Amino acid sequence: MPRDNKTPLIQKIAKQAYITFKGLKSSSNGDNKLVADKQDELISLVTAVRAADLKIAPRKSKPGSGAAGLQSPPVTYMHICETEVFSMGVFLLRTGASIPLHDHPDMNGMLKVLYGKVSVRCFDKLEDNLTVKTVPPHFDPPLAPLQTASLWRSILRSVAEYSENSGPCLLTPLRDNLHQIDAVEGPAAFLDILAPPYNPDDGRDCHYYKVLQTVAERETDGKSSEEQQGEEKEKEEDTWLLEIPQPEDFWCGGEPYPGPAVSI
Ligand SMILES: [Fe+2]
Repeated sequence: MPRDNKTPLIQKIAKQAYITFKGLKSSSNGDNKLVADKQDELISLVTAVRAADLKIAPRKSKPGSGAAGLQSPPVTYMHICETEVFSMGVFLLRTGASIPLHDHPDMNGMLKVLYGKVSVRCFDKLEDNLTVKTVPPHFDPPLAPLQTASLWRSILRSVAEYSENSGPCLLTPLRDNLHQIDAVEGPAAFLDILAPPYNPDDGRDCHYYKVLQTVAERETDGKSSEEQQGEEKEKEEDTWLLEIPQPEDFWCGGEPYPGPAVSI
């Protein structure tokens, strides 16, 4: 096949994302084998994308400070395109900013850093919600009785750092579906592809979560760091998450996307 050097890379990514994720809706039973096969081409295109391909210039490190800092959002989003199959855009994080722990119900996703560095912590819910037989541990601070309805047993899948030279960070309906994203050592930006897009009318709303600390963990925290060194970062750990409203210190502004136009 002749190399196509005229089509902007982001256009190729959009087209490939459409091909990859089309048909997902009709087979949304967790069978992602088809998607996985088609995904390789998309992953290689996404791996190659850099900030310059989207005409985005890396920003200077400037944490939010003073009155202006208080008013400007910690995170902004550049919308690139959205179809019923997928949505694509760029998130820009200020120095020290975080996108708090949130989910992507029944969705697939791909996150590729364009500049800077982010740390991504991925979790999964372990069951549909608390079943009667599950006895939650004691939390510190203790939960109010009503809060137990918003409690989820989950697992910490991974904690990893990504920069522009890393491949994309992937999520599926069942694997690494919840994540928290922190800018590390300065501002950062990443391309985000979600398939299908968030749509509250179709059961795909974004929920936020907080990791709870159990009384037992609080007691372990009293131990010296040497005693805890055996626990390496990648270990999968049982964790309890509480669904919470969107944290007040997080909100996302919008800004225009300066890159090549994309059409599907
Ligand atoms: Fe996300």
